[in-house]
Amino acid sequence: MEEETGMEQPIVQLKNLTKVIGKRKIIDNLSLDVTRGQVFGFLGPNGSGKTTTIRMMVGLISITSGEIFINGLSVKQNFEQAIRHVGAIVENPEMYKYLTGWQNLIHFARMIPGVTEHRVKEIVQMVGLEGRIHDKVKTYSLGMRQRLGVAQAMLHKPGLLILDEPTNGLDPAGIRELRDYLRRLAKEENITVFVSSHLLSEMELMCDQVAIIQNGRLIDIRNLEHGSKGDQAMRVLFEVNAEQPAHAALTARGKQAEMVAPGVVAVFAQREEIAEANEILVSSGVKVYGIRQQVKTLEDQFLEITGGEQRV
Ligand SMILES: Nc1ncnc2c1ncn2[C@@H]1O[C@H](COP(=O)(O)OP(=O)(O)OP(=O)(O)O)[C@@H](O)[C@H]1O
Ligand SMILES: [Mg+2]
Repeated sequence: MEEETGMEQPIVQLKNLTKVIGKRKIIDNLSLDVTRGQVFGFLGPNGSGKTTTIRMMVGLISITSGEIFINGLSVKQNFEQAIRHVGAIVENPEMYKYLTGWQNLIHFARMIPGVTEHRVKEIVQMVGLEGRIHDKVKTYSLGMRQRLGVAQAMLHKPGLLILDEPTNGLDPAGIRELRDYLRRLAKEENITVFVSSHLLSEMELMCDQVAIIQNGRLIDIRNLEHGSKGDQAMRVLFEVNAEQPAHAALTARGKQAEMVAPGVVAVFAQREEIAEANEILVSSGVKVYGIRQQVKTLEDQFLEITGGEQRV
């Protein structure tokens, strides 16, 4: 193990994963790798197959064809071993509402060999429930129940935490909280978090990488840099006095330009090229009134890629 340098094995590998239910192909030849230590987003519209994929990952339903490897172990061939280091919340976690959060966790901890009370305390603190842990679960808010569920899934120190739509039903403050502690978990407990969602905006803030699926197929994988990268091409809008000569001048010089509205030309350019494009315009006698970068959110990109299709 220690000998392996550079080529670290992905914690999750889906290989040509396919699920057929009845006559329908719900998951269609889905392949992806999840590298360790990140928060990985699994994003897709309603009915795209997120829950179905996750249910196959944790062995709740069978795999029609293809493979799932967790830690290099096949979920098909080596289920017990593969699943050992996984914590998951697939449907709403079952909790005893008339017991306290602490009693619930102790109850689950007893079923897992080697989980000490110290560990329970540690994880309670990690999910920020220490103030309310001795209250009955029925008095908890939805967000607090979610956190208790995560605490339960984390008791045995899994290397991989799988959460199916954990933000469902949370208010913006709850989503923010969840986001913060998932990022903290990834960092402090050194775990990989695999989180599904159809909500785009918060995935953008929570995840290092996002896989986008639609109709059971992988459409795209994106790295979400938390920070900016100078060398990425972007769409830049130039506000000019006349779009046609502006467009002609730019394309004559090999720039990728587009007339988008009266007085507006868009150029697809890297940072340096923005200055170049401006120079081309000015030297061609075009008046430039404004230059602005069109920032596309993941949501825009997602709607663009999926064609805005939201299937239920
Ligand atoms: N047991 C089943 N029998 C028949 N069809 C199913 C079954 N389970 C899921 N499906 C279908 O598979 C597709 C994917 O469903 P799935 O629940 O995986 O989507 P999802 O991405 O989790 O959606 P959501 O965002 O609504 O949770 C849907 O069209 C659904 O109707
Ligand atoms: Mg689902």
